[in-house]
Amino acid sequence: MTNASIKMFDYRAELGAIRPRVLAAVERVLDSGSLILGPEVAAFESEMAEWLGGGIGVGVANGTDAIVVALWALGIGPGDEVITVANTAVPTASAIVISGATPVFAEIDPETGLMDIERAAELVGPKTRAIIPVHLYGNAVDVPRLRELLGSREVFVIEDCAQAQGASLRGASIGTLGHAATFSFYPTKNLGAYGDGGLCLTKDAELAEAMRRVRRYGFTERDFAGGRGLNSRLDELHAAILRVKLEGLAAQVARRQELAAIYDAELPASVERLQTTPGCQHARHLYTVRVEDRDAVAGKLARAGIESGVHYRYPLHKMPAFAHARLPATGLPHTERHAAHIMSLPLHPSLTDDQVRQVCRAISS
Ligand SMILES: Cc1ncc(COP(=O)(O)O)c(C=O)c1O
Repeated sequence: MTNASIKMFDYRAELGAIRPRVLAAVERVLDSGSLILGPEVAAFESEMAEWLGGGIGVGVANGTDAIVVALWALGIGPGDEVITVANTAVPTASAIVISGATPVFAEIDPETGLMDIERAAELVGPKTRAIIPVHLYGNAVDVPRLRELLGSREVFVIEDCAQAQGASLRGASIGTLGHAATFSFYPTKNLGAYGDGGLCLTKDAELAEAMRRVRRYGFTERDFAGGRGLNSRLDELHAAILRVKLEGLAAQVARRQELAAIYDAELPASVERLQTTPGCQHARHLYTVRVEDRDAVAGKLARAGIESGVHYRYPLHKMPAFAHARLPATGLPHTERHAAHIMSLPLHPSLTDDQVRQVCRAISS
């Protein structure tokens, strides 16, 4: 964090309002005698699933692991391909690599910056076992349409919902649209823990059981690993705190939407807004725009005491970690142009209307 007066993220303002309930939750756990996979995790899993509109939640240690757990629970690994985008956070693709599968990067829709679902469906080949659409920035990929495009092909759709808690598409919450979904509770997320946390969600009871096995060393019975596994558990302490924060999530997302509407209306025309997927209630995790000269705009903001960010500067197919990924024959020109021009402006529920107007004025000046 810098000394800027308008920050990209500041958990302390929100904590001020909920501190007594957070401390009470911590004391409850410490007094309970149960620290791992106890009643708080079970309660959070079902409360979060209910908040999302259905399914079974499986708490895990972070959003990266959530993807690995979902892939392994689906039996995906070496020799398989998993399609995603190169315009996402590194961990989406890291998780594919950790699983043993090979990432395949589909082109993005230049209007939204999200997976172009038609291009993604075209990339399906004999080795494709799953597609991971990423609901980036809090905007939703049209997963129902993607599933229509896939038709009867046996390809699992795993929604990466790390950035989209609170988003919906035509009335259905993200996370309920594919075969499985994964969430991150990294502190900056719309629902953020005070540390790491994650969740898998699925409506398939057998798949949920497989996820529970994978998160706990692959145990099919006590001290017996019947399959691939890791140690990836959500702690009781984090679950208890997340239960407190979940109560305020709808209001927090609504506040993000109000602030984003001010940006939409008041940023100058030189700032290119990204489109929202038709029918999507955008969760406004990040307010990301495209500008011609990003460094100049970021410099102007910094001089005015305003932070900014880039999500993300380097497309994944340019990174050595993913040099073995399969790409479309045409390459990823939209992804590369997007990465060269995007920047994210401060957006979190504790900002005032006036602070957002200050950012708009600083860019216009
Ligand atoms: C789109 C996306 N996927 C996956 C992750 C991984 O989550 P975590 O940092 O909790 O492992 C993140 C967050 O960093 C993310 O933004």
